[in-house]
Amino acid sequence: MKLEDIKTVGMAGAGSMGAGIAQIAAMAGLQVKVVDMSEEVWGRAKKTIVKSLERVVKKGTITEKEMEETIARISFSTDVASLKDVPFIFEAVFEDINVKKELFAKLDAVCGSDTIYATNTSSISITEMAALVKNPANFIGMHFFNPVPVMKLVEVIPALQTAPATKDLALDMAKKIGKTAITCKDTPGFVVNRLFVPYIIDAVRLLEEGVASAEDIDTAMKLGCNMPMGPLEFQDFAGVDIGYHVINIFHEYMKQERFAAPGLLRNMIKAGYVGRKAGRGFYDYS
Ligand code: CAA
Repeated sequence: MKLEDIKTVGMAGAGSMGAGIAQIAAMAGLQVKVVDMSEEVWGRAKKTIVKSLERVVKKGTITEKEMEETIARISFSTDVASLKDVPFIFEAVFEDINVKKELFAKLDAVCGSDTIYATNTSSISITEMAALVKNPANFIGMHFFNPVPVMKLVEVIPALQTAPATKDLALDMAKKIGKTAITCKDTPGFVVNRLFVPYIIDAVRLLEEGVASAEDIDTAMKLGCNMPMGPLEFQDFAGVDIGYHVINIFHEYMKQERFAAPGLLRNMIKAGYVGRKAGRGFYDYS
């Protein structure tokens, strides 16, 4: 399959990553069919996409008319069967191998064996996931960053079973949807999270040890290292609960103490302090 043959892509999962991927694919002129089991999640995804596109219009990168056309290219469904004839499907459902397994079984039941599956997983082995589908040669990792419309990178990660042609197609797709790709081996965390997750964990440990306040830790990294966001601010932005889940998967794979989740994160989740979306995380947004 060549990139020119792909006019429609599928997006399984409409959380913040799925919404972002759907948006950039639609901005690149592709029709996008989004599937998510929850209509409530669609509602949030639509709002996120519109808000993000409004910022792009404000910047003058696209016109209002182009914004409307982009939105019109995105459709939503709860039915996996709506992805039946879609040649290229991105996946960004919850980071749990059993959830992914169930989704790919449903997709495999309706899609042909030439369908390309690109998973956005950040913490599960691509090779393990490829082994779940009927044609592992067409399975690949394409890992995006949050917020997807802004972050220019995508990591392209072939599984052991991935065909070279699938890797080439994923690299072409990344370019089409406006991203710069790097490729890397299927290892826990790939490149970015292998470096970023220990940094995030260490920021929480500094706070736990009382070395500095949350504000001072964030200010240190913003003003000392030019990070656009401090590590604790970032966790509030991405969701403390989501970060905690990813850290635990990492720890399970890496079996190294430096990847162990700090107790403070667990307690914050118990208290409901899961970040901006809850009005409270490391900071109070109320
Ligand atoms: N859609 C479109 N544009 C957006 C946007 C969105 N959702 N969010 C921000 N922008 C644009 C703004 O319009 C603005 O554009 P201009 O500079 O051209 O005017 C620019 O991005 C900056 O936005 P703001 O001025 O509103 O705010 P900011 O300067 O604080 O930037 C941010 C916000 C882009 C989120 C920035 O804080 C940032 O880059 N944070 C770090 C994010 C990060 O580290 N992500 C990677 C994490 S690792 C990961 O994602 C791993 C994983 O496995 C998921």
